[in-house]
Amino acid sequence: MTDDLIGRARGVLTGALVIHTDIIVRNARGIYVEDISGRRFMDFSSGLATVNTGHNHPKVVAAIKQQAETFMHSGCIFHYEPIVRLAEKLRAITPSGMDTFFFSNSGAEAVEGCIKLARHHTGRQGVVAFVGGFHGRTYGSLSLTTSSIRYRRKYQPVLPSVYHSPYPCCYRCFFGQRQDACAMDCYSYLERLLKHLIPPDEVACIIIEPVLGEGGYIVPPAGFLHRLRDLCSRWDIMLALDEVQSGMGRTGKWFASEHFGIVPDIMTIAKGIASGMPLSAVVSRKEIMQAWPPGAHGTTFGGNPVCCAAAIATIDAIEEEGMLENALLVGDYALKRLRSMQTSHECIGDVRGLGLMIGIEFVKAGEPDPDGLRDIFRRCLDKGLVLLECGVDRNIIRLAPPLLTTVAEMERGLDILEEALQEAGAER
Ligand SMILES: Cc1ncc(COP(=O)(O)O)c(C=O)c1O
Repeated sequence: MTDDLIGRARGVLTGALVIHTDIIVRNARGIYVEDISGRRFMDFSSGLATVNTGHNHPKVVAAIKQQAETFMHSGCIFHYEPIVRLAEKLRAITPSGMDTFFFSNSGAEAVEGCIKLARHHTGRQGVVAFVGGFHGRTYGSLSLTTSSIRYRRKYQPVLPSVYHSPYPCCYRCFFGQRQDACAMDCYSYLERLLKHLIPPDEVACIIIEPVLGEGGYIVPPAGFLHRLRDLCSRWDIMLALDEVQSGMGRTGKWFASEHFGIVPDIMTIAKGIASGMPLSAVVSRKEIMQAWPPGAHGTTFGGNPVCCAAAIATIDAIEEEGMLENALLVGDYALKRLRSMQTSHECIGDVRGLGLMIGIEFVKAGEPDPDGLRDIFRRCLDKGLVLLECGVDRNIIRLAPPLLTTVAEMERGLDILEEALQEAGAER
């Protein structure tokens, strides 16, 4: 049966779409996924950092069923309550002034909307993004994505007037600086880019992930983001925060920007917003969004009633079940335990993160070790733990379990990881 389904999939689905495991799911609930033979796995990937409320949260499932029975599709022909209620609910949790919404279907689509809004609003063409960032795979968003060359190979030329400056990666600084003697060369580089390549008064927006996702689960220094905010305000550049992965409670706050005390001019939300249902949003201030003229942007499926109902239930579940507080608590436990594991396992080069967005970097003699990580993944999977990697060298574990993971479940997951590390160490 297993081989049969995977074989059939290979027969009809493109190999371009990578499926990370061979698990064929029978059902899933919370942090657990059960395969067709009845084996249970802990999913510490949250289905690509998306099911923040866990798989098939009962409140979300009930909301989907109820909405599907009443009204499923508008296509911008009819008004319906869930989209308005969702926007009102989101407005209460997004950073100050981020109060008006355009709903679409995926992270990439939200980023497309963000680029269009910034260009339309400012009348400028330039977009600045960061080397290492991931913003999606459609042509506009791909033009910003530089987390790995594999996303860009053979697709050039991409959108013109897009410029890149290095993301502030302190563990593997682009400029070879040490963390304790950092002069923030990454910011100086950006300033030079604005002197050599495009003047700031021609830049529509600077877009950044407040915590780097696919590029390596990297937390930037707060000072970098503050300087970016100041720079944007000085030149009327829109600061766009891509919170597709870091948002909706992933870091223990509704949005990662709250950790740094910065407020964007535009933000993008997707992934965790509707617990796995396809929904995303571009958010900005009312005066900006209302000046976007009718027809300047649009969608057939975006803000689908069933997805909006799922998103409303997602927000309710996160609030009612204290998932933000839990993510901070369990994340703190995980960071401490992993840092203590780091002292006895030299293959762990770095541990970093906020809430339940934690990166664990695997190294061999200080260099990225993707083979070592693959070996650990295989061992963990055999023991019932699903993990996911990230980073340009694919040597970083992105630990992103659902926000309702308990300390005991995290302890069990990290026990499995430690057993795998010990076994691998013993065989070397
Ligand atoms: C920060 C960020 N932006 C955009 C995207 C693209 O989202 P999607 O895959 O839904 O198009 C992703 C996906 O991983 C992401 O992490």
